[in-house]
Amino acid sequence: YKRITVKTLVDMKAKGEKISMLTAYDYTMAKIVDGAGIDVILVGDSASNVMAGHETTLPITLDQMIYHASGVVRAISRSLVVVDLPFGSYQSDPKEALRSAIRIMKESGAHAVKLEGGCEIKESIKRILNAGIPVMGHLGLTPQSIYKFGTYTVRAKEDTEANELIENAKMLERIGCFAVVVEKIPAKLAKEVARQLTIPVIGIGAGNGVDGQVLVLHDMLGMTHEFNPRFLRRYMNLFDDMTTAIEKYVSDVKSVEFPNENEQY
Ligand code: KIV
Ligand code: NA
Repeated sequence: YKRITVKTLVDMKAKGEKISMLTAYDYTMAKIVDGAGIDVILVGDSASNVMAGHETTLPITLDQMIYHASGVVRAISRSLVVVDLPFGSYQSDPKEALRSAIRIMKESGAHAVKLEGGCEIKESIKRILNAGIPVMGHLGLTPQSIYKFGTYTVRAKEDTEANELIENAKMLERIGCFAVVVEKIPAKLAKEVARQLTIPVIGIGAGNGVDGQVLVLHDMLGMTHEFNPRFLRRYMNLFDDMTTAIEKYVSDVKSVEFPNENEQY
């Protein structure tokens, strides 16, 4: 695929081709991720944790999301760029939701938005879709509602919650979402959701019976240390490698090993 579109993703599911997705929050990282062949880049509100050091995703603002997304869009040549609508930018009413989504599309140049929730934000999602803006849903663990639940444990383990999640997923497909993220739910349930939908279901902590996977870039590169859920596979230990490199630089500066004669004018 030369350029990934929302249509491409639905076609990929139809062909049984898995979808790869990672977060990115800036130009330099997005350039690497896009160049490596990722299908979807998510400018996640996890930037609140990863970029700004907040404990939750709640504090990040719409302006800050647009700033992150703008850098990502400038870097990419192939990936589809999806941007999270941050907490407080869509919950009050559908008009506010549409206004926020339009700002993201106009000011960052991104291709789609993502919102957390099901039936409670149905009208907001419809309004955004009616404006021609593609929407990705997000069900299961929804970090913007952390204070309602109190923990980041696995969601929808009980039948009532599981059935509710399936109904919400079907509703999101019916109103026109192009994909849905399911976070930290039992693998069996995630597989069933993927089976019942024709739009792609992208999992994080949801097993391999879904249509694609998403991880937070800085977690899978091993740059972060504190976050250790079972679903996180670390493909590198950049925290250690970067620490070693920086320690070497500090020591080279102190000992005047750096710069050498070739590194000066
Ligand atoms: O903000 C984020 O990084 C996300 C993914 C974990 C799905 O929403
Ligand atoms: Na998010």
